[in-house]
Amino acid sequence: MDFLNSIFQKTLVGLDIGVSGIKAVELGFGKKTSLISYNRISLPWDSVTPEGTIKDDAAVVSALKKLFSAKSFSTRDVSVGLFGNSVLTKPISMPTMSRKDMEEQIYWEAEQYIPFNVEECSIDFAVVGNTVQKVVAGAESSVEVLLVAVKNDYIQSFTNVIERAGLRPTIIDYQAFALGNSFEFNYSRELAELNPGETDLIVDFGAGSTKLSFVSKENTVFTTKVSACGSGYSQLISERLGESFEQGEVLKLAEPESPLVSPIIQDYNAYLVSEIQKNTDVYFSQSGDRSLRKIFYCGGASKTPGLISLLSERYPEQVENLDPLKNLFVNRTKSNQRMLDDFSCLGTVALGLALRKSGDGK
Ligand SMILES: Nc1ncnc2c1ncn2[C@@H]1O[C@H](COP(=O)(O)OP(=O)(O)OP(=O)(O)O)[C@@H](O)[C@H]1O
Ligand SMILES: [Mg+2]
Repeated sequence: MDFLNSIFQKTLVGLDIGVSGIKAVELGFGKKTSLISYNRISLPWDSVTPEGTIKDDAAVVSALKKLFSAKSFSTRDVSVGLFGNSVLTKPISMPTMSRKDMEEQIYWEAEQYIPFNVEECSIDFAVVGNTVQKVVAGAESSVEVLLVAVKNDYIQSFTNVIERAGLRPTIIDYQAFALGNSFEFNYSRELAELNPGETDLIVDFGAGSTKLSFVSKENTVFTTKVSACGSGYSQLISERLGESFEQGEVLKLAEPESPLVSPIIQDYNAYLVSEIQKNTDVYFSQSGDRSLRKIFYCGGASKTPGLISLLSERYPEQVENLDPLKNLFVNRTKSNQRMLDDFSCLGTVALGLALRKSGDGK
């Protein structure tokens, strides 16, 4: 997606602004793509809402300034990923045509599907890949497309905050596409082995929502989210134990195995896994003959004790950690292991954003 075009071909810092904090990644594009720098900073709770709105501009500007003050990044050009309710996605069908014609036609198609004025939106799309030959005699062939629409004023509010921190928003992407990009970069061989109709599912266990992306051999096919998430654990702990939300978060992280906290975490694990299963079942019941091959997971809340083992019970031999370092060159002598562990769990979306370069037409 290229909502904004960049002028020069150079590296960008991938900036994942999430509910719990901001992650930034810079890559080097030599013979092998390498990790140059990764850093992360927390945000005060509720400064970015799970719906994707920046509620406390000052807090985000200040965090961004701090993140870049360490001088670990060589550029202030950033690639950011939008998420939340202001980003509308819809799988649609279009008549088969060239990519260039599709870029013009998509605005006409979008009018039928989006509830706001297309002129006030930026529209983009990913070709899902499989051209469907309709069986009706005389009908034209069509191509499945994932349509993405974002209101321009939402993009503007996001870019304003980034510019106030002295950064240049050069590419505006959609977080779920960045996640798919990261996956494709690291798992291209596995993706190539997907049989027709098979789909992998990426689950990003975030603080404000759990994002599900269904990916086929060629592209992200469908994205959705469930509201059960990392902060949901903290909320439930706070309610059941009569503590503040902040204390719920502390207890979740510091004493997850304690007799008071552990049963609450297990209850929430069951709820979160059932929500994933429900959404996955709905997707496959509506997507014809597609089937699930594997589930790859990432995001901070995936570290919750018992969560991944429960997911693996529901989907035996199908659950695997998404390793963002799999295909990335890392100078291990210069890198600190704690930083790499942190990146492995939290850096996947920022990596996908950093992989984007201008003129990258995906
Ligand atoms: N060891 C851990 N055990 C349980 N939860 C954890 C652990 N470490 C981090 N988390 C949770 O992970 C979440 C943060 O993960 P992440 O950084 O992926 O979210 P985010 O990107 O900020 O959120 P979102 O994607 O919803 O915008 C928080 O809810 C945090 O409490
Ligand atoms: Mg996130």
